Amino acid sequence: MSPNAASGSRNSYSHVAIGLHWLIAFALVATFALGLYMHELPLSPQKLKLYSWHKWAGVTIFLFVVLRLGWRLAHRPPALPAAMPAWQRMAAEATHVLLYLLMIAVPLSGWLMSSAKGFQTVWFGLLPLPDLLDKNKELGDLLKEVHEALNFGMAGLVLAHLGAALKHHVIDRDDVLSRMLPFLAKTVPGELK
Ligand code: HEM
Repeated sequence: MSPNAASGSRNSYSHVAIGLHWLIAFALVATFALGLYMHELPLSPQKLKLYSWHKWAGVTIFLFVVLRLGWRLAHRPPALPAAMPAWQRMAAEATHVLLYLLMIAVPLSGWLMSSAKGFQTVWFGLLPLPDLLDKNKELGDLLKEVHEALNFGMAGLVLAHLGAALKHHVIDRDDVLSRMLPFLAKTVPGELK
C-alpha cells in the first residue's frame, strides 16, 4: 500500500477527486449564500449584477460537476471501511448518489427558470447560453419554487453528509474523513504511512 494517503491508492481518493470535492463544496456554499442574499434585495443595477454573478457561478459549478462525474466513472472511489454496518453503507451510497443528482438538478433548475422567465444567461458576459425553454411566466414561477426547494433539500443533505463524516472521525475513529482531508490521516502502525 503506497505511503501517501492522497495518492489514489485503493484506500484513498485521488488528488483530482479531492480537489474537485472541496472546490465544488465551497462554490456551492458561496452560490447558495449569494442566492439567498440577492433575491431579497430591492430591484437595482447592483441586484442585477449579483444575479449575473450567481448564474455564472451556477453554470460553472454545473460544468465542474459534469467533469467530476466523468473523473469518478474513470477512477473508482475507495471502498467504505469494512467495519461499517450494512445500513450505514447503504445510507452513505444513497446520500452520495442524491448529492450528485442535486448538484446537477439545482443549477439546471436555475438555468431552466431563467430561460422560462425570458432572461438569457450570458456566461461571464461573453458566451450566450441557449435558452432551454421558451418564455412562459407560469412555468418560470414554478421553476423558481423548484430551484428554491431543491436548494434547501441539498442544504439539508449536505449537513447530514457533514455530520456523518464528523461522526466517522470523532466517534468511529476510522479514515472516512481523512480520505477527503489527507492532512487528518492518523498514523496507524504499518498502514497509512
Ligand atoms: C449550483 C448552483 C446554484 C445554487 C447553489 C443556487 C442557489 C440559489 C438560492 C439559494 C436562491 C434563493 C432561493 C430563494 O430563497 O428563493 C437562488 C435564486 C436564484 N437562482 Fe440560483 N443557484 C444555483 C444555480 C443557478 C443557475 C445556474 C441559475 C441560472 C442560470 C440560477 C438562477 C437563479 C435566479 C434567477 C434566482 C432568483 C430567483 C428569484 O428570486 O427571482 N441559479 N439560487
